[in-house]
Amino acid sequence: MLTVDQLGALRSTLETWRLAGQRIAFVPTMGNLHAGHHSLIRLARERADRVVASVFVNPTQFGPNEDYGRYPRTPEADAEGLRASGCDLLWLPSVETMYPFGAEHTVQVRVPQVTETLEGAHRPGHFDGVATVVARLFNQVRPDVAVFGRKDYQQLAVIRYMVRDLAFPIEIVGADTRREADGLALSSRNQYLSESERPQAVAIHACLQWMREASQAGQSREAVEAGALERLSAAGFAVDYAVVRRPDLGLPVLGEGGAGESGARVALIAARLGRTRLIDNLEFET
Ligand code: PAF
Repeated sequence: MLTVDQLGALRSTLETWRLAGQRIAFVPTMGNLHAGHHSLIRLARERADRVVASVFVNPTQFGPNEDYGRYPRTPEADAEGLRASGCDLLWLPSVETMYPFGAEHTVQVRVPQVTETLEGAHRPGHFDGVATVVARLFNQVRPDVAVFGRKDYQQLAVIRYMVRDLAFPIEIVGADTRREADGLALSSRNQYLSESERPQAVAIHACLQWMREASQAGQSREAVEAGALERLSAAGFAVDYAVVRRPDLGLPVLGEGGAGESGARVALIAARLGRTRLIDNLEFET
């Protein structure tokens, strides 16, 4: 695996591969990689001849009171895991390479509508930072296909919107969420959980499953959301949201108050246990 930290070297290597007719897959990350990320690399491997991963802890997607400073950085383990999963090139841009005029003076990409609710409402500016850095990474790497985890459900929707609206010629692939044996979604933030919080954290996945069953049994959206809030609060969580939406996330499920129309749905939760904020989701049919 090549490790590259200069834009010129990145571009010339990728150009050689392109001239050889090779298809390039890209997996952007913020590092501190776990089995979930490694599965994204393996999926990317199936979709292309060459796999590029980036590790960049993006300052513009963290709010002032969020964990940018203490976000875990594990460069050696990340490189080892990427190599073992089949990555060909690790792109390690510096903040100066990513934001030549400084992060405060950068040209921004702002995706409307889908960024205004849920994570967007609780983390103002977060998706502007994500869209901005992903657009830059796409311009640097110019992949044929890019792979993102479905755990960050709204992020995936934001990226799909941006790619379509800005006509990036890139296929976006969503990869299934990897889970611990008890159902907890893999996340770099799980390591912030204390020993006593770790078993409590499984309540999120259990609640998503309950939301699916209650929705499929015909309970109204309001009843499902109120039930989820009650369950999560009883399990010790401070809940940011626990909702049922259509997969496009654009609008709340229609048919308010009734069982609603049948079709695809997604239950989404963001909740805090002590200092740790966890998000997860579950897609299902009603
Ligand atoms: O999902 C992440 O790790 C980040 O939001 C991403 C897509 C790498 C952008 O910084």
